[in-house]
Amino acid sequence: MCGIVGYVGAQSALDVVMAGLRRLEYRGYDSAGVAVLADGGLATAKRAGKLVNLEKELGEHPLPAGTTGIGHTRWATHGGPTDANAHPHLDNAGRVAVVHNGIIENFAVLRAELTERGHALASETDTEVVAHLLAEEFSASADLAEAMRLVCRRLEGAFTLVAVHADEPDVVVGARRNSPLVVGVGEGETFLASDVAAFIAHTREAIELGQDQVVELRRDGVTVTGFDGSPAEVRAYHVDWDASAAEKGGYDYFMLKEIAEQPKAVADTLLGRIDPSGSLTLDEVRIGAAELREVDKVVIVACGTAFHAGLIAKYAIEHWTRIPCEVELASEFRYRDPILDGRSLVIAISQSGETMDTLMALRHAREQGSKVLAICNTNGSTIPRESDAVLYTHAGPEVAVASTKAFLTQLVACYLVALYLGQVRGTKWGDEIRDVIRDLSRISGAVDRVLETMEPVRELARSLAEKNTVLFLGRHVGYPVALEGALKLKELAYMHAEGFAAGELKHGPIALIEQDLPVVVIVPSPRGRSVLHDKIVSNIQEIRARGARTIVIAEEGDETVVPYADHLIRIPATPTLLQPLVSAVPLQVFACELATARGNEVDQPRNLAKSVTVE
Ligand code: M6R
Repeated sequence: MCGIVGYVGAQSALDVVMAGLRRLEYRGYDSAGVAVLADGGLATAKRAGKLVNLEKELGEHPLPAGTTGIGHTRWATHGGPTDANAHPHLDNAGRVAVVHNGIIENFAVLRAELTERGHALASETDTEVVAHLLAEEFSASADLAEAMRLVCRRLEGAFTLVAVHADEPDVVVGARRNSPLVVGVGEGETFLASDVAAFIAHTREAIELGQDQVVELRRDGVTVTGFDGSPAEVRAYHVDWDASAAEKGGYDYFMLKEIAEQPKAVADTLLGRIDPSGSLTLDEVRIGAAELREVDKVVIVACGTAFHAGLIAKYAIEHWTRIPCEVELASEFRYRDPILDGRSLVIAISQSGETMDTLMALRHAREQGSKVLAICNTNGSTIPRESDAVLYTHAGPEVAVASTKAFLTQLVACYLVALYLGQVRGTKWGDEIRDVIRDLSRISGAVDRVLETMEPVRELARSLAEKNTVLFLGRHVGYPVALEGALKLKELAYMHAEGFAAGELKHGPIALIEQDLPVVVIVPSPRGRSVLHDKIVSNIQEIRARGARTIVIAEEGDETVVPYADHLIRIPATPTLLQPLVSAVPLQVFACELATARGNEVDQPRNLAKSVTVE
């Protein structure tokens, strides 16, 4: 939700900031803007719509050259996506510029106070109040960092702010509460951004900012304090991927690249997790084996695709550990007063590590005394920082809004956690764990094989471009895969898509079936719990008898489905619990191709943003 960049150095600030915004556009693309300190003043440009509109504006009306600047790409919350609401926002004198990610909850009160004191506010945003408040505080101290600290103490809500002042020409100041903000430290230049991708082309040395901290950037270094002015401890780290990982690498879309990267992402996430004795390694563990043995309930909280990974994890956790496991949408969790205590283990799954709903759920869980384990793809992000333990997925940067490789690696991480719990609690023997690990290590090759056979799936997707509805059915772990297939189609193809538990169909949804309605059915392995398989084959017959066009995803060699499949998508044989790792892949390809056929923007679907940092 909104991407922010700040730069101080010797290069053209506009060039650095614009390149950074291109890398952050996945975070929001309703409008974009920049501000550069030049010729003793502030020069700004902003435009509604995608970054390309701002680029056009800058082409027609170039800004004067400067070496200090800030930029913003917006996902609108307060005020529509107009030029006036685009960031940066300025004070009345045009001396201070500010960009913001998050929501300032008490902005209405602050706005009324400012208006009373004679300020004229020009936008409908919550952000603009900050520019005016900074101007007031700066007039007293002539110190932007101090002004920022004083202003932040008056703000409520979640906010990342970055500001410049024309009277402090070589300074950028940032503040962080809840929303992400990282510092990049280069040679004679420093950077601030919502995500390291914005400055990875310049430096891989980063500093993680903590909660309620203010950072002052100068060419030769940074100073970090708390909102109260006390010196703050920060963690410096080296980013272990380079700029090429955040490029399209010859693919038309990031999503296609990320789908293709899945075999490697799965293998990387497994790498080095298990020692020869079969013990699992978590990255940062602050939960001991004795505590895990006491756990009497697992609760998984997550959103969207990560929630679907959690739904699948439930089957593995309960089957392998016999601990009851609940899975809950993070956005609902804390509002229903969940029953938690010190014996509950809460698992928070998040690609970005910044999803506000998930963050709030984990904070609620910790307040109740529960331990929280994060499964996360973004090193140093807020969710792992605030958890008791973390298992990082090694998917590399995921840029496309639709999650693909993060989903598969979240599943791998969930299986590892389930095995680990089984190990410490003695519900799984060492040889059983090794068998599952062996099966998991074969998944990367299986996903490769799926990807090699996707042309008929793409052809099918193109042939369905004019359809309005697609349904998805699954049973057992195939049910969350059906939900995930439907989510991908909704967000990318803007089609009515719904996932159902196949057995539930006859309790209502079967009324939706009509002649030629495409229904995708995920069929479990016939070698596993064959009753599951046989039941779903009956479900396929039931919908086909009512006119559905059946698109069947089934294991290689499963001949029982052949007579009932209008279209058959083959996947390699996989143990029942692990099947989602392969069955989800054709659904990603299907949604991506359908979106392309319908002329939609694959990487930046309408109304969405990659990282949802507001509740
Ligand atoms: O970063 P997170 O994993 O916490 O994000 C959760 C969801 O917002 C995310 O999975 C979303 O549903 C994806 N766009 C789905 O493709």
